[in-house]
Amino acid sequence: MAKRQATEIKGQAGRVLEQDLNREFANMQVLYVKLHNYHWFVKGSHFFSLHGKFEELYNKTATFMDDYAEQMLAIQVKPLATMKDFLANATIEEASGNEDEQEMVETLAADLQALSNQLVELVDGLEEQNALSLADSIQGMARDFQKDGWMLRSYLGRD
Ligand SMILES: [Fe+2]
Repeated sequence: MAKRQATEIKGQAGRVLEQDLNREFANMQVLYVKLHNYHWFVKGSHFFSLHGKFEELYNKTATFMDDYAEQMLAIQVKPLATMKDFLANATIEEASGNEDEQEMVETLAADLQALSNQLVELVDGLEEQNALSLADSIQGMARDFQKDGWMLRSYLGRD
């Protein structure tokens, strides 16, 4: 039988998925602000490369978030849309304001790896619900965040 894309996610598994989707959405929102914080406040001999890299990452995150939210709406899941809700649901922490350039890169490498892992964990549940486009997009986002995490670790001279 031909596969059909779901236009809603159902049952108890759907409700759990809804929460998990919104947690990762909130994480991307916090990451977006954190990347701006680091973009503005990074100091030191690597200013130009890191200032530019952080901008590239927040632009990418912004593109991902819009697609992610709209694909949530396509399966009748309401994306969180207030700062209060983002902060209440995110597991990624905001910038402390005291990070030096090394700590900024270390923190982001860990955040991106965690985000990638957490996104990948959503894929099976989405596929079970036939939310195939979102599952596919999320895999693409997880792939990108994984690669960005590796690049930041490489920048630090680590595996
Ligand atoms: Fe800028």
